[in-house]
Amino acid sequence: MEHEEYRENPVDDLKERVLELAKRRGFLWPSYEIYGGVAGLWDYGPLGTLLKQKVENAWREIFVVGEGALPIDTPTISVEEVFLASGHLSNFVDLIVECVNCHVTLRADHVVNDYLRGRGIAADLCAPDIAEACVPSREKTQELIDFYGITCPDCGGPLGEVHDFNLMFATHIGPGTQRKGYLRPETAQGIFSDFPKLLRFFRDRLPFGVAQIGKSFRNEISPRQGVIRLREFTQAEIEVFVNPDKKSIHPRFDEVADVEIEILSKDFVGRATVKAACDRGIIAHQYLAYYVARSQEFFLRVGVHESQLRFRQHLPDEMAHYAVDCWDAEGLTQHGWIELAGIADRTDFDLKQHERQSGLQMTVFVPYAKPESVERTVVRPKMDFLGPKYKNKAKQVADYLATISDPIGPFIFEGQEIDPLGYVIETATQSVLGDFITPHVIEPSFGIDRTVYTILEHAYDEDTIDGERRIVLRLPRGLAPIEVAVFSLVKALNEKAVEVFQLLRAEGFLVEYDDSGTIGRRYRRHDEIGTPFAITIDHETVENGTVTVRDRDTTKQIRRPIASLAATLREMLERGFTVSSL
Ligand code: GAP
Repeated sequence: MEHEEYRENPVDDLKERVLELAKRRGFLWPSYEIYGGVAGLWDYGPLGTLLKQKVENAWREIFVVGEGALPIDTPTISVEEVFLASGHLSNFVDLIVECVNCHVTLRADHVVNDYLRGRGIAADLCAPDIAEACVPSREKTQELIDFYGITCPDCGGPLGEVHDFNLMFATHIGPGTQRKGYLRPETAQGIFSDFPKLLRFFRDRLPFGVAQIGKSFRNEISPRQGVIRLREFTQAEIEVFVNPDKKSIHPRFDEVADVEIEILSKDFVGRATVKAACDRGIIAHQYLAYYVARSQEFFLRVGVHESQLRFRQHLPDEMAHYAVDCWDAEGLTQHGWIELAGIADRTDFDLKQHERQSGLQMTVFVPYAKPESVERTVVRPKMDFLGPKYKNKAKQVADYLATISDPIGPFIFEGQEIDPLGYVIETATQSVLGDFITPHVIEPSFGIDRTVYTILEHAYDEDTIDGERRIVLRLPRGLAPIEVAVFSLVKALNEKAVEVFQLLRAEGFLVEYDDSGTIGRRYRRHDEIGTPFAITIDHETVENGTVTVRDRDTTKQIRRPIASLAATLREMLERGFTVSSL
């Protein structure tokens, strides 16, 4: 990669230096610092916001424009029914334990793991070398605390009982009704809740993809790893709805077949093309493999180093409750391997659950090539019973029963079991035109904040220029928050420099004019925020209308006429030309 080859000096305390730079230069700030701050909540300063927006735009280019996954935007507050259906109310838990003495609340599995690791006991509750902690059983964790007599790591006091702690933030919607609500822990459920409308929008045809980017919330127990584990964070998710019989063939697989990825799975460790991974059954099918490859394309485009990116398959006991195969894109940072994205086959789990909870059909009619005569087990509604029992809802109940393709009761309508006297299950010969199927969902889900942090770590470098130490952020050029800096060599040229600054701003560049300090200091200031090009107005500018263009990475300079400056910069920013190649 263009930005990778320059890294000169790996530093030991990289994560501290990156965070120091990020705070000092307005990329990342702890939120509410004037009130002491809150773990897990971080602000993006001006430069961080610009960088984050560019990362999100790269994601849009690849997945919204390139894949046609059209975006929707649903509320961050969701009603309780959504999470009853999705399973988050019962399953989205971590284990906590409270110290009886100092009353600190701790993540129970972390306490046990730290204790065992500290004593060299190889009894990790989860698989070794994984970025995300999986959730071990409550019983197992309690057993280990009791067996080893593990005490509070803070005060040495005894620990209480291990409990489940649901990670969702609960709220009430409106003052009077006290309708329960939750801040969404993933953007995906907003998409699933809209499935019937989305299906109509996409003219009842599979496959189609829907994208959503926005805030998600998780009440993490003790988010200590800086900006890695947040309580409010941005997710960029795509839900691709696909016919389950067609998952093995992705129509555009040829475009990515030769993409090489670094794989860590139970059956294979090493580099392989996504085609080989698919053919050898390492990745379950082409749809997953396709999105693994596109995810890599996204990460490389935004500056994650290829040598520090891998795809790790979830172990069966680590998989989310809804997934059958899941791959994490992990970036290597000084915090270790961190999960940047999860690419999962969620099967029909969510749609089936929402169908049960809402009583609304979440299926797609898939026509056969020609009508078929088939014997079927069907559910026949009995209107003479349903009418008096369900009154004005009777037709809706009957319609729902008539569409059931998998007639194993009980059948739930609007959260209530339908009275079995209201239908019969029987065998019938039918001429059928097609089938109602529940689509499967392939989901690439990206954590934007962790991606931004990883980009900062991978871009951070220090080198020596003219005997002086400098920090340089070797961001991909198109991603830099400020694209061009404009300086004047001497005060007398300030006016001309402002003119060039305004010209470039009018051309649409993110440009900053800087006339304070020596020219060397101005270069350094922009090197450390990753500004790829610095324009200097000097005496020659007045004579022949040219300026110098300095390249952040090599510090080489070329002269260019002001008249063609915008075109030169655009070529270097967008088409990857370097100062040396022009
Ligand atoms: N809809 C699927 C889903 O939410 P996930 O693996 O839990 O899957 C997706 O989350 C991504 O969101 C993760 O890969 C990670 O990058 C990011 N993420 C999850 N929890 C996070 C947290 N507490 N702080 C920052 N990012 C987080």
